[in-house]
Amino acid sequence: QQAVKVGLIGLGTVGQGVIRVLQKNAEEIARRVGRPVQVTHASARDLGRPRDTDLAGITLVADALSLAREADIDVLVEVVGGQTVAKDAILAALARGKPVVTANKALLAENGNGIFAAAAEAGVPVAFEASVAGGIPIIKAIREGLAGNRIDSLAGIINGTCNYILSQMTVKGQSFADALADAQKLGYAEADPTFDVEGVDAAHKLSILASIAFGMPLSFPAVACEGITKVTAQDIQIAQTLGYRIKLLGIAKRSAAGVELRVHPTLIPDDQLLAKVDGVLNSVLVQGNAVGQVGFYGRGAGGDATASAVVADLVDVARGLGAEAHRHVPALAFQPAAVQALNLLPIS
Ligand code: HSE
Repeated sequence: QQAVKVGLIGLGTVGQGVIRVLQKNAEEIARRVGRPVQVTHASARDLGRPRDTDLAGITLVADALSLAREADIDVLVEVVGGQTVAKDAILAALARGKPVVTANKALLAENGNGIFAAAAEAGVPVAFEASVAGGIPIIKAIREGLAGNRIDSLAGIINGTCNYILSQMTVKGQSFADALADAQKLGYAEADPTFDVEGVDAAHKLSILASIAFGMPLSFPAVACEGITKVTAQDIQIAQTLGYRIKLLGIAKRSAAGVELRVHPTLIPDDQLLAKVDGVLNSVLVQGNAVGQVGFYGRGAGGDATASAVVADLVDVARGLGAEAHRHVPALAFQPAAVQALNLLPIS
């Protein structure tokens, strides 16, 4: 049976993870989709770089845009990150009626409204499970699993690098700089780690979660954002003495007055769930008006964990190929025409 042909932009930590997971779980995936799913074409910023992953059988394409325009792929997976190249490639694929899977939270947070409009016009999905909380299927959980609720709030640890750094400083007494260097070595940090430590990555993810949870446009500029660069070893020690842990949280709340979105270091009592989430783990608590509080927990960064979410999207998209306009894979949690004008509250 003919395989679903995947074009992969990006052969870094996540891209190589996608190839690995598709190979490792080929049988299960083929059974779930009804036919094999294979990376047939790939591009990367530096194709000559030595990599651990076996790229045999994959046609290497010189640049992302050529790959997006490649006629012989069924789906485009974008895991290269950044804005310009990724955006141009995604729009080029959509214009050709090709579905897209992306892990690019920065791109979606800052340009997602346009990208989802282009996807709606093309009648093909842009799937983005891997853009928030790595391997935790939080997008599908909120969009599908909690679709019977009004979501009132969500709060969580959504940057693995910051959580790793704060955990190492707290538990091992490691310095901020050493812990960040380790997070980079482990493949958790962004290409520009200031996005992690200044809270920008968490703010990107929070704006995506809020969009799904509250049915509102992506509103990244409205997120009040403070990272962890000012948290000292002494702060951590004092917090511990008083029975608290310091965690970088993303928080989204709605009220009659509007929606507030914020990212900042937060004191959490020792005995609470989020205080116990250490290392690269992420955790998100969602408050729905029917279900009450629901919690999600798992690896929030790293190659295979993030690839788990990318491949889940690939399975979804591959199942819908040829079906009428991929109707069963909703990208957003709402009909764009029915977006509510939610008031974004300023944070003082
Ligand atoms: N740099 C991100 C993090 C990667 O540390 O959470 C996963 O989005």
